[in-house]
Amino acid sequence: MTDISQRKADHIHLALQTEHQATESAGFDRIRFEHNCLPELHTEDIDCSTVFLKQYCSAPLMIGAMTGGCERGETINRHLAEAAEQAQIPMALGSQRAALQDAAQNKQLQNLRRWAPKAILLGNLGGTQLQQHGVELAQRAVDSVQANAMIIHLNPLQELVQPKGDRDWRGVLDAIEQCCATLSVPVIIKEVGAGIGPTAAKRLIDVGVQWIEIAGRGGTSWASIENARTDQTREQQIAAPFINWGMNSAQLIPQLRSQSQQLSLIASGGLRNGLDIARSIRLGANMSSIAQPFLAPALESTEAVIEQIEIFREQLRWAMFLTGSKNLKKLQSAPLQQN
Ligand SMILES: Cc1cc2nc3c(=O)[nH]c(=O)nc-3n(C[C@H](O)[C@H](O)[C@H](O)COP(=O)(O)O)c2cc1C
Repeated sequence: MTDISQRKADHIHLALQTEHQATESAGFDRIRFEHNCLPELHTEDIDCSTVFLKQYCSAPLMIGAMTGGCERGETINRHLAEAAEQAQIPMALGSQRAALQDAAQNKQLQNLRRWAPKAILLGNLGGTQLQQHGVELAQRAVDSVQANAMIIHLNPLQELVQPKGDRDWRGVLDAIEQCCATLSVPVIIKEVGAGIGPTAAKRLIDVGVQWIEIAGRGGTSWASIENARTDQTREQQIAAPFINWGMNSAQLIPQLRSQSQQLSLIASGGLRNGLDIARSIRLGANMSSIAQPFLAPALESTEAVIEQIEIFREQLRWAMFLTGSKNLKKLQSAPLQQN
């Protein structure tokens, strides 16, 4: 197994353990809708569909980026891709860095289109890979899976905690600017669990970014996962105060929305059910993304992933019913309970 494959395998193993979820909440539990005891709706008339990247989606929910590129990677990706296709929701790929360096892995990823010929697929690379290899690598990542958009993840905390992680982050913003100007598909910038705050968002918007996925604190903790992979006591001591570093997702959504009405905003990081999706939409997100809760079903089967999607979708529909919201536009203005 290569270093990268071993790392990805460790990530999957550790991400499944609840102890590597952030101990501070994403903040969604503090957002309470005003209960509507007079919905005046039939549940059958509730429409939670949306349009994302100009394509129909059955709900404002996508499968968040999770890593392939290891022994179980192909099984996971196949189950996620088939489920995305059948349930008509988008799927974000895990980092394609390893696959682009290895012909066998690249072939595995190219198979995704066989399993999901019509689904919205989002490519994925890290900001430092873009800085090191330029737009050409991003274009190859897009072409290899005919991606509908390209996600660039920014993970400086994870890289600090990761043994041999990237420490040189100079020039990442310039690389993103170039990518937005020349890539053949839209560019989405995301974090991986520490969140994108208003100041960084402004800098991204100023260089042409139109899509941001928040990936705030409250769900999978990469500082905790990477810290568990090192046996260096000194490194663990340094990382310890940063386990809950970051900004919570529920706070960031309205902050970024008030900054720009045009920005397309994807809520993520610690969303754990369809009610959290409803809360995200109410707070100003256009779309939501959930990663870790799909990992165990993805190891099992396509049907298990579809079942998880259907549960999230039904929870969203219940929240819409109980707020009297016939569609997502109505949900955006559903009254919140005042504290
Ligand atoms: C096993 C696993 C692997 C991941 N790999 C990637 C990755 O390769 N690229 C990326 O942008 N994010 C990756 N993520 C981060 C997620 O996309 C997401 O931002 C983060 O886990 C927070 O969402 P969650 O709380 O719903 O898990 C990964 C998450 C998990 C659980």
